[in-house]
Amino acid sequence: MRMVAALSGKGGVGKTTTVANLGVTLSLMGQRVAVVDCNFVNPDLRFHFGVYAFDATLHDVLAGTISLETALIQHPSGVSLLPCLASVPEWPLTRLREGLRDLRADFVLLDTYPGIENGNGELLGMCDEALLVTNADLVTWTDTKRIARQVGLPLRWVINRQKDGSMGGVAPPEAPWAAIPEWPEAERYLLKGTPYALEHPEGAAAQQYARLAGDMVEAAARGEVERSLARFERYTSQGAFSTRLLSILRRFKEERLREKSHRPARV
Ligand SMILES: Nc1ncnc2c1ncn2[C@@H]1O[C@H](COP(=O)(O)OP(=O)(O)OP(=O)(O)O)[C@@H](O)[C@H]1O
Ligand SMILES: [Mg+2]
Repeated sequence: MRMVAALSGKGGVGKTTTVANLGVTLSLMGQRVAVVDCNFVNPDLRFHFGVYAFDATLHDVLAGTISLETALIQHPSGVSLLPCLASVPEWPLTRLREGLRDLRADFVLLDTYPGIENGNGELLGMCDEALLVTNADLVTWTDTKRIARQVGLPLRWVINRQKDGSMGGVAPPEAPWAAIPEWPEAERYLLKGTPYALEHPEGAAAQQYARLAGDMVEAAARGEVERSLARFERYTSQGAFSTRLLSILRRFKEERLREKSHRPARV
């Protein structure tokens, strides 16, 4: 399971939009995806999925009054959504990670409040990676770089609302990055409760989300293979495996990696 937080320095750059569109894209690629609202000030992720009423929230799950499985709302795209209340929870957020591990999710995307305050510090402590969402104007970019220095996790940048493929005069980051173009009538999709990439799978934005999702799936599979190879190598160094057996296992793992990154779409 990869737990990934969408972060930003400034507000309104597109974190929630990124979580919704990347979430449905990963799900259409056959990944098991949960999106969790951890914006404890303005929780609005559910609107992107057309969810206007709900029985339970992240807060109930953390308090232990309801199981995670019962609280998750299933969206037709295959994404599971967990809304939250507008207050920093008083229970440890790590309970969420434990519950999600039992559900065997491949990716868990967390939406957050801008900056790394308001509960975000604890939240980052349980994440594997952060998606730094930014726009390409100089002021937002400078603020994003400030956050990047403080996160302490592997980073991937999402340069959102790009106009005409322009980088607005800023140099691309050193970490992996994806650029998402601006699309027309964003408010209409929000009111409709359908992520844009789901409505326009052939569009430029959907293609960029697909590239980003593909990179994330491949990196996750590579990490999994590397971890199990390291385990095998530990055994070999203890004399438990022959070199020949190790090379057979390595080939098997490489094939699995290839399979996983080319898994057919679910729909
Ligand atoms: N690529 C895009 N093209 C067009 N409109 C977009 C794009 N990305 C985001 N928007 C619009 O920009 C606005 C802000 O986006 P969003 O709510 O995702 O930002 P945010 O970073 O989550 O904001 P906050 O910090 O308040 O949580 C929304 O109205 C959204 O529809
Ligand atoms: Mg938001």
